Amino acid sequence: MTRKFFGLDIPIIQAPMAGGITTPELVATVSNTGALGSLGAGYMEPAEIRIAIRKIKSLTSKPFNVNLFIPEHSNSTYDSSLIHKLLLPLWHELSDVPLDTIALTPPSFDDQVQVILEEQVPIFSFTFGIPSPSLIKRFKMQDSLIFGTATTPEEAEALANIAVDAIVCQGQEAGGHRGNFSSHDPLYSLLTLLLLTGKKVKIPLIAAGGIMDGCSALATFLVGASAAQLGTAFLTTTESGASSSYKQALLKTPHMATALTKAFTGKTARAIINPFIQKLEGHVIPPYPIQHFITHRLRSLAAQKNRPDLMSLWAGQGYPLCRHIGAATLVHEIAKEIAKYTS
Ligand SMILES: Cc1cc2nc3c(=O)[nH]c(=O)nc-3n(C[C@H](O)[C@H](O)[C@H](O)COP(=O)(O)O)c2cc1C
Repeated sequence: MTRKFFGLDIPIIQAPMAGGITTPELVATVSNTGALGSLGAGYMEPAEIRIAIRKIKSLTSKPFNVNLFIPEHSNSTYDSSLIHKLLLPLWHELSDVPLDTIALTPPSFDDQVQVILEEQVPIFSFTFGIPSPSLIKRFKMQDSLIFGTATTPEEAEALANIAVDAIVCQGQEAGGHRGNFSSHDPLYSLLTLLLLTGKKVKIPLIAAGGIMDGCSALATFLVGASAAQLGTAFLTTTESGASSSYKQALLKTPHMATALTKAFTGKTARAIINPFIQKLEGHVIPPYPIQHFITHRLRSLAAQKNRPDLMSLWAGQGYPLCRHIGAATLVHEIAKEIAKYTS
């Protein structure tokens, strides 16, 4: 190992992944190895977050991370009738009941934060923006570490200015949503992002995007990262809450490319290209989170009915290297791979 990251024995972070993937069992299992587990709580109601944190604490005494989405403002009057028309035939492939237009709202960010503060977590992290200085202050008063997410050196600088403790540098290879929060997004690849960011900020950098093994983690350490955050690699672990149809799609379709798309949620995210994405290509997509709520029922039902063609198959570019093993084994294998090149 090249360097020690906030006392971790293994400088590997299991990425926060919202949507039920980062089960308390996954988070605690990873933390128990000496790496860092993360709860993706962005879509969770405050009461669910409290239960999950308590469960994690019952399973590990090691540090873990809880992650939220910084809220974005969207135009709630957006006309979504065209998107509905497009989705209707897809929905009727799955169900006979009407596709209703019930407006769902995201959980209250302030209430989510309140619960996390009350439960006192070792690390709080966030993506999609910059929280207020007062929020940072409240976590610091409890001695929680704070990690922000950046996709450009300028975003990293803005995060360093509000005194976060470390910055997740998310390259364009990464699976799931891009954490960018400025209008400028040159889609930096991970190594370039680390190199350029290292010139601008002097706090620890966490590498994220396309890291699937010890060798790729090590490459990021060589260009300045202090730890590597892996999302996709943990999706297919035993403890991951990803549906079995999602896990199967990752493990069994290694030749489909991924793409950055707004088709599922209205926010740019990387997923395996499938007919759902192809059907919406070229159409105007409502902004996040409106599109997320419009497509949510369809995607959930598709997962239940094992229809990967209609699911959001979030995946980083390295997904063909996913391993179907336990999370602790994955961390140990990666640590061994790193050691092979450093000893
Ligand atoms: C299914 C999925 C869900 C994700 N959800 C979140 C999230 O809730 N919060 C967050 O900060 N990052 C999230 N990410 C991004 C990860 O933190 C990380 O940047 C990414 O997984 C790294 O790229 P990789 O998937 O190629 O390892 C998600 C990624 C995936 C694949």
